[in-house]
Amino acid sequence: MYRTHTCGELRIGNVGNSVVLSGWVQRIRNLGGMTFIDIRDRYGITQVVVDEHSDKLVHGTVEELGREYVVQIHGTVIERSSKNTKIPTGEVEVHAENIVVLNTSELPPFTIEDDTDGGDELRMKYRYLDLRRNPVKNALVLRHQIAQEVRRYLDGDGFLEVETPFLIKSTPEGARDFVVPSRVHHGEFYALPQSPQTFKQLLMVAGFDRYFQIVKCFRDEDLRADRQPEFTQIDCEMSFVERDDVLNVFEGLTKHLFRKVKGLNFDEPFVRMPYHEAMSKYGSDKPDLRFGMPFVDLSAVVKGKGFGVFDSAEYVGGICATGCASYTRKQLDELTDFVKRPQVGASGLVYARVGDDGVVKSTVDKFYTPEDLQAVAQMMDAKPGDLILILAGGLKKTLSALCELRLEMGSRLGLRSKDVFAPLWVVDFPLLEWDDEAARFFAMHHPFTSPNPEDIALFDSDPGAMRANAYDLVINGVEIGGGSIRIFDRELQQRMFKALGFTSEEAEKQFGFLLNAFKYGAPPHGGIAFGFDRLCSLFGGADSIRDYIAFPKNNAARDVMIDSPSAIRPEQLDELSINIKPEA
Ligand code: AMO
Repeated sequence: MYRTHTCGELRIGNVGNSVVLSGWVQRIRNLGGMTFIDIRDRYGITQVVVDEHSDKLVHGTVEELGREYVVQIHGTVIERSSKNTKIPTGEVEVHAENIVVLNTSELPPFTIEDDTDGGDELRMKYRYLDLRRNPVKNALVLRHQIAQEVRRYLDGDGFLEVETPFLIKSTPEGARDFVVPSRVHHGEFYALPQSPQTFKQLLMVAGFDRYFQIVKCFRDEDLRADRQPEFTQIDCEMSFVERDDVLNVFEGLTKHLFRKVKGLNFDEPFVRMPYHEAMSKYGSDKPDLRFGMPFVDLSAVVKGKGFGVFDSAEYVGGICATGCASYTRKQLDELTDFVKRPQVGASGLVYARVGDDGVVKSTVDKFYTPEDLQAVAQMMDAKPGDLILILAGGLKKTLSALCELRLEMGSRLGLRSKDVFAPLWVVDFPLLEWDDEAARFFAMHHPFTSPNPEDIALFDSDPGAMRANAYDLVINGVEIGGGSIRIFDRELQQRMFKALGFTSEEAEKQFGFLLNAFKYGAPPHGGIAFGFDRLCSLFGGADSIRDYIAFPKNNAARDVMIDSPSAIRPEQLDELSINIKPEA
């Protein structure tokens, strides 16, 4: 028997017990005659004490030990004289009677502590050591808990977990596919699914009614803190539903997870905000509603007064930072530098302070009368002591820059606490998005999303104005999930493909399987997918999803631990009839 207890288990009630523990050596301290060894496993840490005078054998073994050695300790539980209140086992220690070295360890390349000295790349290369650290281990424990609660909730609501294939067909919409060459079928390729979208719709045609799957998805796209080339979705689909049926079930799931995992109760229904409102008030389709500070369109009051920057702008918008009128010149210069960064993209920042006396003073005083400035303050609902920040320029660019500025101010004012959660549904997305480069429309969500029924008439006259029956779940400025009510009518699906620039032959070739299925009694259906990694990192209070994935890729989409991607043997290439072109 390797152990009678785990390293996180012993309490004061165990005093006097003979125990056997197995674990890793976290730390060794020699305090004149006594050696203290902290033994760690997944469950916690227990202090072991070795009395130098007690036994020659033990003494010899202790000197051999090093960090991360795997040891087995035989001993007796005793009460500690100086208790450690920070750990659950801190009232006791194990008085060692025998120590067996089960395995040795080289000195780890970074310290296995909560705060490590290892850089990102090093920790990724030795991920199995990084995973021994509490913050990373706890992230995966949290992930497990959330997954269990998802399954419990959806199973309780009649959802069936069905697996769908990973080797599928490459399709032209969405992100770039990862492809897998077929050995058996010369010159042909599978693609890895970007999501199980069409399969879950086919399951609805098959009558499965309520499907879910916690499933890997693969997208060859540029990586960011919240994007990995392979990531996990909580993927769902339901039959005989309208938008609100789907939103209600998944709002219920989200509330269940908050309650069970975070101990938080959300009694009110989540806000439902149309896409256009999100864009005009927050400059984003994923607004962070932990704080207010909505945009106010000031065009009507500031244009036509001789200030060229505003006069020539398509849009002039402001936000009001409560209590910031006292910002120093240096702070304001910092904000100006912030908005001028290429990632933010504004050409400059105009500000106005509302003094304690209510008088508004701005950097553009000479173009505006005190009454003009009062009108601005009134529109912004600015009070004495507030600071008004204004950006101007092209509509899209300025909304996006103002969004960045608002988030920056939210952070500076401490309004974006990781312990506060502000969920909302963004609804009524546009159906189609024009792409100048490709000179065609793309589906904003995906080609299977149903148009808002009232807008179907616009297919031929003004496709860009059509709204989609689509929705996103947004929490704290993060897109946690997205879905839609689907097209289930063959004719409508064909019109959609046509709007996306597919000829009927192309549509048939790419998506014939789905169009065919629609001939055989497809029920009305809709669904949603949550980004599981994002949900976990949000619950864990992290900015990056990486620590919530056991073996993630780095920013260059590499797994530096197993060294992948990597070249394959010439014989393998031959089998696949593939020649690698020299790098351009
Ligand atoms: P969508 O493309 O919006 O919808 O994806 C759903 C959710 O998946 C997460 N997500 C990602 N997470 C990590 N890394 C990525 N690269 C990544 N890409 C997306 C996001 C997103 O909201 N089939 C549809 C869903 C449906 O219509 O039912 C789909 O995949 O949190």
